[in-house]
Amino acid sequence: MKRDFLSIWDFTRDQLEHLLDQARTLKAQAAAGPLPRSLDGKVLGLLFVKPSTRTRVSFEAAMYRLGGQCLFLTTQDTQLARQEPLRDTARVLSRYLDALVVRTYAHQDVVELGRWASIPVINGLTDLLHPCQVMSDLLTLSEIRGRIDDLKAAWIGDGNNVAHSWIHAAGRLGFTLYLSCPAGYWPDARLIHKVQQEGSGTLVFCDDPRDAVKAVDVINTDVWASMGQEAEAETRRRVFQPFQVNAELVQAAPAHAVVMHCLPAHRGEEITDQVIEGPRSVVFDQAENRLHFQTALLDRLLQRTL
Ligand code: CP
Ligand code: NVA
Repeated sequence: MKRDFLSIWDFTRDQLEHLLDQARTLKAQAAAGPLPRSLDGKVLGLLFVKPSTRTRVSFEAAMYRLGGQCLFLTTQDTQLARQEPLRDTARVLSRYLDALVVRTYAHQDVVELGRWASIPVINGLTDLLHPCQVMSDLLTLSEIRGRIDDLKAAWIGDGNNVAHSWIHAAGRLGFTLYLSCPAGYWPDARLIHKVQQEGSGTLVFCDDPRDAVKAVDVINTDVWASMGQEAEAETRRRVFQPFQVNAELVQAAPAHAVVMHCLPAHRGEEITDQVIEGPRSVVFDQAENRLHFQTALLDRLLQRTL
């Protein structure tokens, strides 16, 4: 049976922990020498409707390091530009490829591709979720702290796709997530409700970002206007100003707390240059771990062992 990776919520705690273990193992192996060519002869397709630096390059590099090959596709290059249905595209691509990473707007589109594809489909970011990012961030935190089950994390700013995947992770892995967002920009209420009903983690909502950071191990933030929200950027810059991750906010957190940002960052908006370049920032370790987490993910999904 093929398995998709569309949402952290679709996996059990054991499966997620197994992926993180596998990522740590492969990262250590890669540091010692070339990785086993477990995906020799396999081809990964990447279908990207939005721009990307990290997701594209880390998936492609991961595939090559495991002995596989990649094919990068944009909507304009394919008949999707001329409205070929997703269900036909999924069935056709399944005849050529061994897995497909998709970055697009509507989450429903990756669900539809996954439903019709006979190969694993991986969510490389939708408007709703960014699961590979958050799993890579948890890999980074597990390296810093040794464990994540007792993690206390803060999400400051927009209740966006990355925030939603953090909420899923807290619910599945059982840690505590403090959220602080401006009125009108909180994460999706239905998603929160589901995680609160069925998940094992704790979600704490704070109007003041200083309350959200005071007991945490990590402060997370992201851009105020995500891809596709460019027209709202001006309004958002005004509304989100009190939620900037700056030196004063970092001061309000415990001395051991690190600062994360999935990148790309808008310095001077959601995070100051001083904080992102400062000693608490682990943003480039996060970026590196995209490669290691996704190496493990491709290895498991393509060998059908997840
Ligand atoms: N963090 C992240 O997904 O970066 P890209 O948009 O560069 O892929
Ligand atoms: N929330 C951001 C994440 C970019 C990696 C966006 O969707 O644009």
